Amino acid sequence: MVVVLERVKTTVSVIKADIGSIAGHVVVHPDTIAAATRVLAEAKAKGILVDFYVTNAGDDLELIMTHRRGVDSPEIHEVAWNAFREAARVAKELGLYAAGQDLLSEAFSGNVRGLGPGVAEMEFYERPSEPIAVFMADKTEPGAFNLPMFRVFADPFNTSGLVIDPKLHHGFKFEIYDVFESRSVTMNAPEEIYDILALIGTPGRYIVRRVYRRLDDEIAAVVSVERLSLIAGRYVGKDDPVAVVRVQAGFPAMGEVLEAFAFPHLVAGWMRGSHHGPLMPVPQRYAKCTRFDGPPRLVGLGFQVKNSRLIGPVDLFDDPAFDETRRLAQVIADYLRRHGPFMPHRLGPEEMEYTTLPEVLEKLKGRFQKVEGAVKAAEPRVKSELLSTKPEE
Ligand code: 13P
Ligand code: 13P
Ligand code: MG
Ligand code: MG
Repeated sequence: MVVVLERVKTTVSVIKADIGSIAGHVVVHPDTIAAATRVLAEAKAKGILVDFYVTNAGDDLELIMTHRRGVDSPEIHEVAWNAFREAARVAKELGLYAAGQDLLSEAFSGNVRGLGPGVAEMEFYERPSEPIAVFMADKTEPGAFNLPMFRVFADPFNTSGLVIDPKLHHGFKFEIYDVFESRSVTMNAPEEIYDILALIGTPGRYIVRRVYRRLDDEIAAVVSVERLSLIAGRYVGKDDPVAVVRVQAGFPAMGEVLEAFAFPHLVAGWMRGSHHGPLMPVPQRYAKCTRFDGPPRLVGLGFQVKNSRLIGPVDLFDDPAFDETRRLAQVIADYLRRHGPFMPHRLGPEEMEYTTLPEVLEKLKGRFQKVEGAVKAAEPRVKSELLSTKPEE
């Protein structure tokens, strides 16, 4: 008997939202996780999802789902939306803080993008063994992944596979998304690394959204790009991001991917989404942002994907090898905190425009008096709209 196996593509969809939390922006309530789990279990029983894992990173509810419906599937997005709605309903009943925070709309219209939740999805033919890493951050923004993604896929001092492994040696393609103009540009590493860095060094605007292997255009990584304040026009909560990365066998090894997080780089977020702080990789039990609502946390879960099922997870940063990273993050946190309300601990003016600071400043407008004979500052000689960190008026 000849068995013809049809190769089917698996989709991994990680969709998250802050639907409310206990005692401030600290941690989700188990009943909200249970509510979301019920909705996803029903979708699994109906065959919409193949598998799922519901979890949290601090106050963010995270739906890790596998299925065969491709990215941006209306059915999958509706399931996620219903799970968040149910969880938010429970959050309201319990009087949780900021219940329904990230659900910016009442009505669902086929896709959760633009409604508040963060989305990272990728579709691929499974390799015989398909290990992946799912990253979930709290108290920061999508651009927080720019530096580590660059290091994983373009820096041989991080990823020795770029030098050693023939499949990685051709380099990777970076799709960079401009959140202000809703447009993207694709650039090749290693040839264009300086141009890539000229953009992604502004993480509040340019976000590494997808990474592809140059050898065969296989998807390697995807990052959520939703920025809540840009959708709502005001500060709602930070745009705590998620990412999915394929690892091993033709992709960077799990250890090469995790290595990029051994340096606790500075990211925007922390208290009131208005401060820079170090991104601290932690085991899931420590994804509770308490000190000054932070410092920003990163959780990593490893899975094997087999026939669209999720095998795992393993708590990737539950390793004493990251203790020194965390210790350095604490030292940096202490150092930054001593700046109090001063930049660069506090974010710059463009980002603060989305907070409540403008209301305070408006009151001061009338207090200024012209200083006669003083020189007015000159405009910069060369201006580029690509450098702006706020949307065009
Ligand atoms: P093992 O020999 O333990 O399979 O590890 C191989 C490897 O490439 C680790 O990065
Ligand atoms: P979240 O974005 O995690 O809800 O945090 C909001 C905040 O203002 C923390 O101080
Ligand atoms: Mg919150
Ligand atoms: Mg959060």
